[in-house]
Amino acid sequence: MSVARVLVVEDERAIRLAVAGLLKKEGYEVSLAESAPAAFAELAEGHFDLVLTDLALGQGGTGMDVLTASKKARSETPVVMITAHGNERIAVEAMKGGAEDYVPKPFDNDQLRMVVKKALERTRLLREHRLLLDRIEREYGFGALIGSGPAMTRVFETIKKVAETDLGVLIRGESGTGKELVAQALHQASSRRERPFVAVNCAAISRELVESELFGHERGAFTGADARRLGRFEAALGGTIFLDEIGDMPPETQAKVLRVLQERQVERVGSQTPISIEVRVVAATHRNLEEEVAAGRFRSDLYYRLKVVEIILPPLRERVYDIPALAQRFLAQVASRLKRPEKTLSAEAVAVLQGHDWPGNVRELKNLLEQAAVLAPTDEIAADDLDFGLRSPNAAAPAVSDTGAHAFSGGVGFNQAKREATEAFERAFLVSALEAHQGNISKTAEAIGLVRQSLQQKLKELGIRPKG
Ligand SMILES: Nc1ncnc2c1ncn2[C@@H]1O[C@H](COP(=O)(O)OP(=O)(O)OP(=O)(O)O)[C@@H](O)[C@H]1O
Ligand SMILES: [Mg+2]
Repeated sequence: MSVARVLVVEDERAIRLAVAGLLKKEGYEVSLAESAPAAFAELAEGHFDLVLTDLALGQGGTGMDVLTASKKARSETPVVMITAHGNERIAVEAMKGGAEDYVPKPFDNDQLRMVVKKALERTRLLREHRLLLDRIEREYGFGALIGSGPAMTRVFETIKKVAETDLGVLIRGESGTGKELVAQALHQASSRRERPFVAVNCAAISRELVESELFGHERGAFTGADARRLGRFEAALGGTIFLDEIGDMPPETQAKVLRVLQERQVERVGSQTPISIEVRVVAATHRNLEEEVAAGRFRSDLYYRLKVVEIILPPLRERVYDIPALAQRFLAQVASRLKRPEKTLSAEAVAVLQGHDWPGNVRELKNLLEQAAVLAPTDEIAADDLDFGLRSPNAAAPAVSDTGAHAFSGGVGFNQAKREATEAFERAFLVSALEAHQGNISKTAEAIGLVRQSLQQKLKELGIRPKG
């Protein structure tokens, strides 16, 4: 950190100079004010990392007024009060009003040095902490989730509403729609954010090991168990456990997980001692759980316990208007990872992306763009640079059927298919018209008989960004 700037507000000249001398010797940059109005002027002019103010300042205001002004100017700057001996009661009032600390007068040099150092250290930590939280927020929190339109707005609202509760949340959506990202956002938006977020892929654990994986085991519990092992529930203590692909959990395990949710405790394999488990449970599946329940493959009691709150993620093909924003995010990410300039998409490439049906959803889009960003010969990715042959491993996962009454968003109905076909046509038409006029909006509008504003509006609706 650069040199800390301290404002000293003290009406007694001798003390003011002594304090200033002491702090300068510590390497701080010191500004002085001899009254409340002088302090207000300083606060209005510069940023301080610490304000050290006497409580009684004579004419024009007290240390309390300086405190108020400082909080107003820059709320994170700590204010330390200097109070005459016997005035502790007022000092406590000051701390209730937001002062960081106080030093009683007369003080010795060490005492003052310590208080100042501690206050500055605390702000530094707070600042670092906030930067870290900002970064996590950008990568995993709301900031990581891109989306607009009614379905995604509902998703954001639900996250905000339920993050702070401990209600069970079931996240549903096709493969690659962002279920895990939403689970992380829920965790980040809650006060559990500093505790672990533990993701368990229920489809990937073998039947034999699932119990030990989830609940842990004692040494010698079974052949091969040569050390005690903590289960994932225990690892998530105080935080969130994310049971991914819950629809693929074997029936025997379902019964055990249900018990954990009911009793809020686990027993390690090979132990009879229950361990209390305080975790938030979030589950996700790309399966139609209602069908699974009807077919007897998923326990209905577990189903009801998990889906107290449901978050349904729309497939990408139902929100193609988000493709430009998503694309820009992914291209920026690759660029920063590869330390190369960020590539852009030609209008035609955007149109092609928006016309695709995206069986692998956002993940497929991300993979496709990462590949295109690397392979495209120029800084602008053209439609020809997009290779739809590429499939993420998950893209082939069975899509959710749209026959069941509870299917996601009802699938692609006729009206929607028609709307999409119309849009695709409009898009192709506008893109070629734009190209014919080198991206010039006025000329294009004139050629196709639209006023400029309507064309711009249309392009915006369709997410077309003209070149040039
Ligand atoms: N709304 C979004 N905004 C930005 N990035 C997203 C969004 N949704 C998904 N992604 C990105 O797409 C990829 C897939 O998302 P995620 O793993 O959360 O999907 P999923 O639904 O859990 O998929 P699966 O069912 O295959 O496990 C990730 O890289 C994620 O960061
Ligand atoms: Mg996932």
